[in-house]
Amino acid sequence: MGETIRFLLDGEAHEVRGANPTTTLLEHLRGPMRRTGTKEGCAEGDCGSCTVLVGEAGGEGPEGSISWRAVNSCIQFLPMLHGKALLTVESLAKGGALHPVQQALVDKHGSQCGFCTPGIVMSLYGRAIAAKGAAAPVGEVLAGNLCRCTGYGPILEVAKGVAAEAAPAVDLSAVRDETMLSLSYEDEIHGVTRTWLSPRTVDELAKAYLDHPEATIVAGATDVGLWVTKQRRALPVLISVSEVAALKRLEETAEGLRIGAGVRYVDAMEAVAKLYPDLGAMMRRLGSTQVRNSGTIGGNIANGSPIGDMPPALIAAGATLVLRRGGERRELALEDFFLDYGKQDRRPGEFVEAVITPKLDAGRIFKVFKLSKRFDQDISAVCGAFSLAVEGGVVVDARIAFGGMAGTPKRAKACEAALIGQPWIEATVEAAMAALDADYAPMSDMRASAAYRSLTARNMLRKVFLESQDRDVETRVVPESAHG
Ligand SMILES: Cc1cc2nc3c(=O)[nH]c(=O)nc-3n(C[C@H](O)[C@H](O)[C@H](O)COP(=O)(O)OP(=O)(O)OC[C@H]3O[C@@H](n4cnc5c(N)ncnc54)[C@H](O)[C@@H]3O)c2cc1C
Ligand code: FES
Ligand code: FES
Repeated sequence: MGETIRFLLDGEAHEVRGANPTTTLLEHLRGPMRRTGTKEGCAEGDCGSCTVLVGEAGGEGPEGSISWRAVNSCIQFLPMLHGKALLTVESLAKGGALHPVQQALVDKHGSQCGFCTPGIVMSLYGRAIAAKGAAAPVGEVLAGNLCRCTGYGPILEVAKGVAAEAAPAVDLSAVRDETMLSLSYEDEIHGVTRTWLSPRTVDELAKAYLDHPEATIVAGATDVGLWVTKQRRALPVLISVSEVAALKRLEETAEGLRIGAGVRYVDAMEAVAKLYPDLGAMMRRLGSTQVRNSGTIGGNIANGSPIGDMPPALIAAGATLVLRRGGERRELALEDFFLDYGKQDRRPGEFVEAVITPKLDAGRIFKVFKLSKRFDQDISAVCGAFSLAVEGGVVVDARIAFGGMAGTPKRAKACEAALIGQPWIEATVEAAMAALDADYAPMSDMRASAAYRSLTARNMLRKVFLESQDRDVETRVVPESAHG
């Protein structure tokens, strides 16, 4: 128990004493640390101007054995940094010489007012040091960095040039697992008015949550962070699931995947895409690189938002949720978890331990469509997921679920009934499209009108049909063949 948060800053041990656990990393950087190069644009994870790199022991990158990821410091709570390493934009330029990424932005006119520039520098630097031979696509890396004045042309030019050449400017060769692990660990951090509990095992987590059923569980804080920065909620007791090793485990089994509730998107995408290529493609549009580097699938489910992207897809896939309360474990079909708007089937002291998702039968059609105003880094207006078995030209099974159409992610039972036992032909599809009206009465809000939602949900089913036919019809912004 203590009040000290310890991490490595530019490879040197750094301690923070007495900070409230809901202090964000950005507040600490710009306040007590005076590292004001990191900017606050939105304080909600959208703009990327606060991007920093966080390193964790156990990586295989070129800089020792630390694996680095770009995160939005505006929605990271300080204790999330405990035992980790941090690089900010100030870490890069040395002895008055700009880092090659920074120099390239100057040389190629990639900066005007400069507000977004530190975040863009850190995203591009992160891309370069995480490259391990094959750098991530620039568009994917920069989707979470907004620039309002330069225009992206010059920035993309810079990105193309620096991927290979950007030699690490910060010498972290002495920093290895041992250095990080030697940062003595606190399982409780007490601020003046907040407490942060950091259990390491599932049993410790179960006990902590039973002892504090009023606590807020925190995983990647890409939802919870905004409760503090935007809603100013107090959150007196927080329990982090991020240090629970078993929750961070993703197991590929003969039946499918068991995804621990603490597994981040970035660590799940490859395995999920292998099982469901279309869902893998959709996940690359979920949030930004920074959001996917922190956010978890468990958090997306537990949050219970009607417009969360993973639940419809996982419901269509037939996923099961594993819940744990004290010594008790129970499993339930994911669709049964969502009871009503803001209400899930979760008792006080009960948390999500894992989600289990099965392999698809050979030949099964599995499609996921996310409809949002912006292609990347935008919340869905409608997200539709379709799992269909067609044998001998007849639909023998259908699992269809939508987000954005009701107060919860919800199966389209009437639509499914209109398909099962019917020939897989246009007339059946049209009848099933009409049946969606019996399943949903969507609302109008800033993302879409009710009429638009109903029409696009119908058209998603038509798209499933068209894509299952051998017709030369373009149905995707990014072609299916690019999904891999
Ligand atoms: C800029 C931005 C873009 C986003 N874009 C998308 C998007 O495109 N699609 C989308 O679906 N979402 C999006 N989100 C929302 C968010 O990223 C996801 O919901 C994410 O999966 C939440 O995971 P987390 O680990 O950050 O959860 P947290 O914020 O840590 O927690 C979320 C909720 O789940 C609870 N919780 C977490 N883990 C557990 C557990 N194991 N057991 C019980 N309760 C738990 C928390 O108490 C909280 O209620 C976006 C968020 C931001 C900031
Ligand atoms: S300040 Fe905009 S993402 Fe952090
Ligand atoms: S340079 Fe002004 S916001 Fe990007």
